[in-house]
Amino acid sequence: MTISTYWKAARRPLYTALTLATLGASIQAQAADAELVKRGEYVAAAADCSVCHTEPGQKAYAGGHGIDSPFGAIYSTNITPDEKTGIGSYSRDEFAAAVREGIRKDGAHLYPAMPYTAYAGISDADIDALYAYFMQGVEPAEQANKETDLGFPYNQRWGITFWNWLFGGDDPYSNEAAAGDQRAAYLVDVLGHCGSCHTPRGTFFQEEAMTGDDKVYLSGADIGGWHAPDIRAGKGGGLEQWSQADLEKYLQTGRNAHAAVVGEMKPVIEHSMAKLRDEDIGLIAGYLKGLKGDGENQITEGNGEATTAKLDSALLDVDSGERLYVDNCGACHFSNAQGADSVFPKLDRNPLVNAENPTGLIRVILAGARLPSTAKAPEDLAMPGFGWRLDDAEVATLASFVRSGWNNKAAAVTSDQVAEVRKELSEEQLSASAPKFN
Ligand code: HEC
Ligand code: HEC
Ligand code: HEC
Repeated sequence: MTISTYWKAARRPLYTALTLATLGASIQAQAADAELVKRGEYVAAAADCSVCHTEPGQKAYAGGHGIDSPFGAIYSTNITPDEKTGIGSYSRDEFAAAVREGIRKDGAHLYPAMPYTAYAGISDADIDALYAYFMQGVEPAEQANKETDLGFPYNQRWGITFWNWLFGGDDPYSNEAAAGDQRAAYLVDVLGHCGSCHTPRGTFFQEEAMTGDDKVYLSGADIGGWHAPDIRAGKGGGLEQWSQADLEKYLQTGRNAHAAVVGEMKPVIEHSMAKLRDEDIGLIAGYLKGLKGDGENQITEGNGEATTAKLDSALLDVDSGERLYVDNCGACHFSNAQGADSVFPKLDRNPLVNAENPTGLIRVILAGARLPSTAKAPEDLAMPGFGWRLDDAEVATLASFVRSGWNNKAAAVTSDQVAEVRKELSEEQLSASAPKFN
């Protein structure tokens, strides 16, 4: 054996061992990456990024979803890792600035339709995870952004600087994974940005409170044709009657003994809440149970039996609201308006029925509704629409009756209000439940 062959032979095992070691390290690194991407996917679900950045039926996270604001439609952007049209060229820090401070890579300010005032609290560790997920876990999609074109002065993005000085978000959390109250607040105030719909807005369209320390937090607000109710479930809150278990069931399935979800909350359940771990849902429900109200949004027990008795009687002297109810609604919601737990929602003391703004109720009567299908409640029960069958005056009479029957105590509805909502609905939405003769 020459010296050189000796060296070759001796080196081989050493070399192999070295290669194996590097390989091992890189497998470990890949596993760590995969772990981080998975964590990022969970954070993205808790923060509901897809509800705004994915247009139904289109590529995930490719943007183009219009968000109504009082100033005009604001379009979400492509946040897939595509280099040209998405955020493929964003560094980790540029991504963090967009999500937490609303500053785009080119330095322009994002409109607060992107809920960065809530996301300001996202921890560094969760930003790392989100970044890993959006760069490695999301398919790149080449799709140019739609131009958001608000009228003057709202098209002046620099003006947002002043708004941010006044209303910009808090500092990032450092203990996001901590159990208990801390994590509950992180899930609701920061990731879930529940306040962006459920907290009333002030003169400058800012949320009037960002945390549970403030009385108006989650006390209910009107958003784009729907009412997002008071969801404080402690003493005096709008949901005081809901138990911890009622809240958990609603968040995971969109239904419980008190209500069934319709409107803007439905995608929140589907894209976000239904994907969270049971313990996180428990924390969110517990947090809402801890928020007290002052009784202003409560519907208290009254003479519910009077309406029931009248409907149950031979219907001799019914006025047309009662007649319309028995003919169209009673079959599912029953004469006592108690429905059936998790199948047909209660209409008695139902928050949507009693909302100050009746738009949501009118919409449901005209166009019907379909429950989301979630892992814990896969069957997507539907309510037919009656827009093809009842005219505006009939819907107004019926809605007024439902809003004042049993223990409900909300103002009457006019035909004009029904006509307004009807205008917003397409022919297809109005006639989807009509019998087809072909
Ligand atoms: C309530 C709707 C909404 C939600 C929820 C939302 N976004 Fe956005 N996002 C927007 C809108 C609208 C814009 C564009 C705003 C503009 O053009 O000023 C935007 C812009 C962005 C941008 C800037 C991209 C660019 O260069 O244009 C990034 C990055 C981003 N969002 C990431 C996220 C992430 C990550 C999440 C979840 C943690 C998220 N968004 C959740 C509405 C939303
Ligand atoms: C995009 C707007 C939006 C966001 C974000 C949102 N909600 Fe809602 N939420 C609504 C609307 C609208 C309703 C009313 C649905 C109905 O009448 O069926 C609602 C209803 C609810 C209800 C049932 C209340 C009732 O009286 O029927 C609960 C509980 C609730 N939301 C909790 C939450 C929590 C917790 C979060 C944050 C994780 C959240 N929501 C985020 C819009 C929103
Ligand atoms: C065939 C059965 C059926 C009939 C008939 C029916 N509904 Fe419904 N209704 C449902 C189901 C199922 C839901 C839950 C759908 C959802 O939440 O998406 C529902 C939901 C509702 C809601 C929303 C409740 C909430 O908690 O958000 C209201 C209000 C309502 N119905 C009123 C009426 C009125 C008024 C009529 C008569 C015009 C009527 N319904 C007729 C089955 C029915």
